[in-house]
Amino acid sequence: MTIIDGKLTAQQLRAEIAAEVAEMVAAGKAAPHLVAILVGNDGASQTYVANKEKMCGECGFRSTVLRLPAETTEEELLARVEELNNDPEVDGFIVQLPLPKHIDEQRVIEAISPRKDVDGFTPINVGAMVLGLECFVPATPAGILELLKRYNVPTSGKKCAVIGRSNIVGRPMSILLSQKGWDATVTLCHSRTANLAEVVREADIVVAALGIPGFVKGDMVKEGATVIDVGITRVAADNARGWRVVGDVDYDEVAPKCEYITPVPGGVGPMTIISLMKNTLIAAKRRK
Ligand code: GUN
Repeated sequence: MTIIDGKLTAQQLRAEIAAEVAEMVAAGKAAPHLVAILVGNDGASQTYVANKEKMCGECGFRSTVLRLPAETTEEELLARVEELNNDPEVDGFIVQLPLPKHIDEQRVIEAISPRKDVDGFTPINVGAMVLGLECFVPATPAGILELLKRYNVPTSGKKCAVIGRSNIVGRPMSILLSQKGWDATVTLCHSRTANLAEVVREADIVVAALGIPGFVKGDMVKEGATVIDVGITRVAADNARGWRVVGDVDYDEVAPKCEYITPVPGGVGPMTIISLMKNTLIAAKRRK
């Protein structure tokens, strides 16, 4: 059993990105600039954005966080998005999700210029991804693919079960793994899937992205499988913070059966942030 070390892999990628940024700057170009819009006071979102800001610093990027009050109207937010679309000093930006209930998330996403959509959430980028065209691949699936590549996990001809059909992780993951180059045979499982445990038990690669702690049990995984745990649910814990993060996989039961497994924390999480940095670097390189 090999534990896929997302933290270490992300550090390697960070060094590669920082080296490219140093070259850009030495050549007289501006460092990549990522902006995050954060609306309201959601605790998890604040942590994510703070982590992104820290990682920008470590990669040598410029970073700006626009903190807007929870009462911000949809029109006000759309106006900020339009400003960033037109700001030549900004290479890429993200609108941290979830947004407050009174704001139509999809309308905001659709207002983002596809050229600056480093999350890869706009319909143009999703469409390009589906067609296998140049696009910004959403950060979590991109990070998972990078882990599979760097650990030489075979995917061609393999059966893959993706659990969870979110726009951010499950659905793009299922599309990407089925594409040429990855060549997996993918089943996208969700809350209405019949005999889900049986489907998962047949899979060579399991991607658990449904957001239910410990959902994947030992008896749902076949011997020698690769298991990728995307879960990051906060649960109460007896520590200084009062919480800890748990995955969608029952690690103690599942790990002994695996050829490869990602831990939580330290698996997919660090790869997501670094993949966003990579997308931002790509956006900066396309800058006129
Ligand atoms: N909320 C949870 N994950 C993400 C993400 O990858 N991007 C954005 N913008 N919001 C999120």
